[in-house]
Amino acid sequence: MAKPVVIFDSGVGGLSIYREIKQVLPCVPVVYCSDMVGFPYGPKPESEVIERTSCCLNALAVQFDPSLAVIACNTASTISLPRVRGELGFPVVGVVPAIKTASEYSKNRCIGLLATPGTIARSYTDQLIDDFAADCQVIRVGSSELVQMAEQYLRGESLCDARLRDILAPFLNAKPRPDAVVLGCTHFPLVREALERIAPDIHWIDSGSAIARRVISLLAGHDDQPAQTAGQDHFVHTGKDGLADSLALERMGFARISSLDLGSCL
Ligand code: DGL
Repeated sequence: MAKPVVIFDSGVGGLSIYREIKQVLPCVPVVYCSDMVGFPYGPKPESEVIERTSCCLNALAVQFDPSLAVIACNTASTISLPRVRGELGFPVVGVVPAIKTASEYSKNRCIGLLATPGTIARSYTDQLIDDFAADCQVIRVGSSELVQMAEQYLRGESLCDARLRDILAPFLNAKPRPDAVVLGCTHFPLVREALERIAPDIHWIDSGSAIARRVISLLAGHDDQPAQTAGQDHFVHTGKDGLADSLALERMGFARISSLDLGSCL
């Protein structure tokens, strides 16, 4: 059996990354982990996010022996990568805001960053902006509410356009309006259609396809391993059994759902 790719997020946002990876590698086995007990990470102190990310990934390493892991969470990647890369014996891919892509796209030199309150305030994000968008006006919007809305949307609830408009107001009312907005939280591509409906003039940018390409290149040396049949992936989560019941996981490609044993680390 091929070693799985682990995809980790606080919640279901990493499923936007899962979707991109499965589009190009439909038969690579995936273990998706949602730290449902720790969710949401956006408003949490950095030290707690680093601790939870490290603890979950170490447990996943022991239980699933992955070929590589993707931290499909900007809030965690922007602070946890050095720690977990030092702890784990396989490659760890981080997902961070696609500021460079937005800067390359922008004609009017005004771009937006839509992310969690944690991500918009990180020094990592400041550095990305200094390095790649120093000549742009950058409008930052941090929203935990949109993270919650995306979670509920995946559980079958509808989105309220009026609330979305309020959240997006700093972009919609800006003069000039940003012509590109980075979706710097993996939950947000899950509601991309609604964002595009509300602001069709804005180019909404995420990191999904770039991450999928990175995974392809890292797995290039593993071609000899037999792949699994599509639709056989494993969804694990922290906390009690049943927490993932309202998600249509089977339809997304998951054959197994179980809770993750964290031992005594948290
Ligand atoms: N999906 C996560 C991200 O990309 C964060 C959501 C949260 O837990 O606040 O930042």
